[in-house]
Amino acid sequence: MDARPLVTDAEFSLSEATTDAEREAHAARQRWRLPVPKYLVDVYTWAYVAPYVRRIFDHQWVPAVILWFQDQALMRRALDEITPGDRVYMPASVYGTFCVDMAKKTAPGPVTISDISTIQLYSLRKKRRAFGLKNLFVRRANAADPIKGPYDVAISFLLLHEVPEDYKAAIVNGLLDQVDEGGKAVFVDYHKMKWWQPLWPVMAFVAWTLEPFTFSLWKNEIADYASPDRRAKFTWTKSTSFGGLYQHVVAVRKQP
Ligand SMILES: C[S@@+](CC[C@H](N)C(=O)[O-])C[C@H]1O[C@@H](n2cnc3c(N)ncnc32)[C@H](O)[C@@H]1O
Repeated sequence: MDARPLVTDAEFSLSEATTDAEREAHAARQRWRLPVPKYLVDVYTWAYVAPYVRRIFDHQWVPAVILWFQDQALMRRALDEITPGDRVYMPASVYGTFCVDMAKKTAPGPVTISDISTIQLYSLRKKRRAFGLKNLFVRRANAADPIKGPYDVAISFLLLHEVPEDYKAAIVNGLLDQVDEGGKAVFVDYHKMKWWQPLWPVMAFVAWTLEPFTFSLWKNEIADYASPDRRAKFTWTKSTSFGGLYQHVVAVRKQP
């Protein structure tokens, strides 16, 4: 038995941590104090932070409508990247059934889903209990500083278009760092539409009024947010769907 006295958080500093378990316990305590990023409060309180959002938005019809009924196709493609038994990570929650389906598809492998919004974490925990998802681990973290892996699959699902540029780079690089050899990072997000996509004006209006961080994904490749050394360690493939509105990018870590 460890005879050292228990220390309270106030007495404890990371430099005193001597074991991995102590370091992880300390990191977990620090994560619960993490503030919600300013951009999330300023731009997305109505969607992800306010206490009422769960009742209004956490139903599968919400992503269905927002995604022009492409939700099932986008989610299925993302889930197709997972093999049962994988270690999977997603750095932000998603409304509806996606997190539940992900845990079911991955079982018996562990799925870690983190988020920074307290109400989203509460919703996730309710789903975990309701569906008895013993392999689902819910953690509080800023996506820019993801929960440490390694993982076989790390999935960013419609997150990058909701975050400012410095966050995009931090999330892409942070996720790549957590992918194990032979594993992959999957990014599903918005993309520049083909000129003939009839939803062009509607989506431009939505981005302009509600989702101002989307436009840069119309100009930049997701791979370009990775630092050159990280980018080179992965094999990148990209495909688009629904008239170019959505992209599905997979980065597979090369064997050394
Ligand atoms: C993945 S995104 C969008 C998903 C999709 N629109 C849906 O239907 O849910 C939404 C989630 O990202 C979370 N989020 C946004 N910025 C974050 C950050 N920096 N760190 C962690 N979670 C973040 C929000 O709290 C929210 O739960």
